[in-house]
Amino acid sequence: MLTIVEGVLDSDELQHFRQQLQAASWQEGVISAGSLARTQKHNQQLDDRSGVAVSLGNQLLRRLGATPLFVSAALPNRIFPPRFNRYAQGGTYGAHVDGALLQLAGSPTMLRTDLSATLFLSDPDDYDGGELEIEGAFGVQSVKLPAGDMVLYPASSLHRVTPVTRGERLAAFFWVESMVRDEGERTLLFDLDQTIQALTVTVGAADANLMKLSAVYHNLLRRWAIT
Ligand code: NI
Repeated sequence: MLTIVEGVLDSDELQHFRQQLQAASWQEGVISAGSLARTQKHNQQLDDRSGVAVSLGNQLLRRLGATPLFVSAALPNRIFPPRFNRYAQGGTYGAHVDGALLQLAGSPTMLRTDLSATLFLSDPDDYDGGELEIEGAFGVQSVKLPAGDMVLYPASSLHRVTPVTRGERLAAFFWVESMVRDEGERTLLFDLDQTIQALTVTVGAADANLMKLSAVYHNLLRRWAIT
């Protein structure tokens, strides 16, 4: 399942993020690539430990917690601290799969990457190329979103970023370890939750059948979630 979450950041927040990122010092993205992805990655990335990365990352995490569509789709257990990248002057990232396990800084524990997320920070009119292409069961889907919007996709997918031939593409990206590891189960819960939300508007929250449907959602979540 590929989920688009619109308006994660508003225009004031976007302006703040862009200003901070324009003034930041960037390093070559290849530093953090795995051995197979190393030859594929041609972009720039913010040092994870820099003050700008930490402060913008925390700001983004707070927004995500207040974004119901993200919570419904990802059912996050833990989120890897957001990172920031920049593609310009032909910058690209060839086909690769993200690593399954990531070490959390300053912690002995690993985070399992169930979902990958990219939040677009640049206006799509300001650059050419830079599409995120994701391979799925129904072929390749090409994603290039308005600034402030985010795509969530299975971290198991093969994906690439096409060369940016004009302007620059700024983005935040991160991984989610979900309480529901299985993608099929997570998709069923998401569909059920979205249906319940829509019915709440049309029939009202007190409807007896809607309450039964809500009980089914919570009982499935109780059965499948691992915290
Ligand atoms: Ni990737």
